[in-house]
Amino acid sequence: MINMKNDFTLKRLSVEMGQSEYEMFQDIPAREVGSRNLCFGVPFENFRAYIRSQLAREFNRISEYDTPTIIFVGYANNKPVGIVGIRTKINNYWKNFGGNIFYVIRKSERNKGYGTTMLKMAVKECEKLGIKTVYAQCGANNIASYKIMEKNNFELIKVDKSRYYKKELTKINKKIKE
Ligand SMILES: CC(C)(COP(=O)(O)OP(=O)(O)OC[C@H]1O[C@@H](n2cnc3c(N)ncnc32)[C@H](O)[C@@H]1OP(=O)(O)O)[C@@H](O)C(=O)NCCC(=O)NCCS
Repeated sequence: MINMKNDFTLKRLSVEMGQSEYEMFQDIPAREVGSRNLCFGVPFENFRAYIRSQLAREFNRISEYDTPTIIFVGYANNKPVGIVGIRTKINNYWKNFGGNIFYVIRKSERNKGYGTTMLKMAVKECEKLGIKTVYAQCGANNIASYKIMEKNNFELIKVDKSRYYKKELTKINKKIKE
């Protein structure tokens, strides 16, 4: 468990999670720009099976369908407010299609700064996982998404229908921040 601000915590998705996390998944649309929620509408009795399917993604091989991926839940004041996934290994295909990080904040908790904090904490996780350059991207019109990257000092590298960002996680950067 990682605690950065007193009130915001990131936990790895786990089968111990229950009703409050289930309710969060039901507060995230099945499909919206840049994100999909396969748990939306799944009955509670199948929630654990859904979690297991997500946990298995850690052991994926890289293909065009998926990558090795770890999912975290973000909690504000102990309330689950969002999900952030880290693709721990990506190839050139994934650099251009999704990058290392994806995130979503539940509808009822958007525009409260949680997306920004959750991304900041996810970057720390990337650092711990040994990722040297974090790639991320969003639709060119997804203002909330690119704002949270820019607030986390991601560097814009390309724009077409999407906006492509990266963040170098080097010791030099670390020293500058300190
Ligand atoms: C992207 C997302 C995670 C942001 O989470 P969040 O908790 O709302 O983000 P924050 O509150 O930290 O910051 C959002 C910023 O975008 C701004 N914003 C949001 N909607 C906006 C809009 N339509 N126009 C202009 N600015 C907007 C907010 O004002 C805020 O900026 P500010 O701090 O300068 O005021 C959330 O909107 C979401 O889950 N979207 C759907 C899924 C998605 O798009 N995921 C990314 C896929 S690439």
